[in-house]
Amino acid sequence: MSVTSTPTGSCRYIFNDESSLEKERLKRLNELYNENTISLLKPCLQRPVRVLEIGPGTGEIGSWIAKQVGQINYTALDTSAENIDTLRAMLPEAACISGSVTDVDKLDELKGKKFDVIFIRWVLAYIPKEQVEFTLKLLFDKLLNENGTLLCEECNVYKVHCITNDDARKRLDVKCYGEWLQLTRDVQSLEGVHADFEIGHGLKRHFASLNAEISVHTFQPILDSQYQKEIPVLAMKAAKTFLLGKKVRNEDELDQLTSRLAEVAIDPSLSVKYLKNRAIIAKKGEAHDEGNAYREFLNDKDLQQEGALGL
Ligand SMILES: C[S@@+](CC[C@H](N)C(=O)[O-])C[C@H]1O[C@@H](n2cnc3c(N)ncnc32)[C@H](O)[C@@H]1O
Repeated sequence: MSVTSTPTGSCRYIFNDESSLEKERLKRLNELYNENTISLLKPCLQRPVRVLEIGPGTGEIGSWIAKQVGQINYTALDTSAENIDTLRAMLPEAACISGSVTDVDKLDELKGKKFDVIFIRWVLAYIPKEQVEFTLKLLFDKLLNENGTLLCEECNVYKVHCITNDDARKRLDVKCYGEWLQLTRDVQSLEGVHADFEIGHGLKRHFASLNAEISVHTFQPILDSQYQKEIPVLAMKAAKTFLLGKKVRNEDELDQLTSRLAEVAIDPSLSVKYLKNRAIIAKKGEAHDEGNAYREFLNDKDLQQEGALGL
């Protein structure tokens, strides 16, 4: 596929990204997932490199990257003007751009720019499905240097389930989590809503047209403290305005579900196997060859099964 034009579409983020609840949700998610993400990023930042981060949110990984490579080598792009203002204050020498990843070919600030590393985590889930592959191709073909690396991480909500603290292998049927998953399904099937909470599952497919060497890594943390188990509660609260606007549930239903998730958070006997994350590392410069250069690190059982099914 050649990159000649960008399909357009509005990219309304479903969480209220200006709210303190969303900031708190992202902070707690960062505390859970960053160690794993940083272990994947670190080998790419061993020498002076220019890095583009898409959708940095509160900038926790961004400030770590800027420390590794120097602020002048770090560029951030986010649709949220407030996130961009916060990053500008945190990293005054970095380039912080307000805009959508779906428009990277149209942004003046990116004209003629190339990067050695492009990092994008939990953003593709919120752009129109039909633009995902095209957007990745734009990033890879137009903005990545030769020998550069694109690191993309997305999640799969449908792996979330409760477990008891004494047996992590036993899936528990906890009603409010079933209802929460049903709500996510209802949201992503609404017309005009850009949310694909399962995107991590088939993420590799979107890289098929890139001339890249690919490796796949998965990570699924367990929430066991009240603080961690409040993350889905924060998600409900940060998305409430959006959900009410879409009339996907009424206010009572949303509040009741939020309360029941909060009850699980304070129940010391229950833990939650949370969002399964899949990271794809796509390296430029190596020919994409199914039999040879196309490597996968099948590091968990689900992925092995999915790999066997060719997913
Ligand atoms: C779930 S947060 C992830 C934040 C951060 N990447 C992290 O890992 O903590 C999604 C971020 O992507 C931004 N975002 C959403 N849609 C976007 C788009 N089309 N282009 C660029 N950024 C976008 C949001 O404003 C928000 O900062």
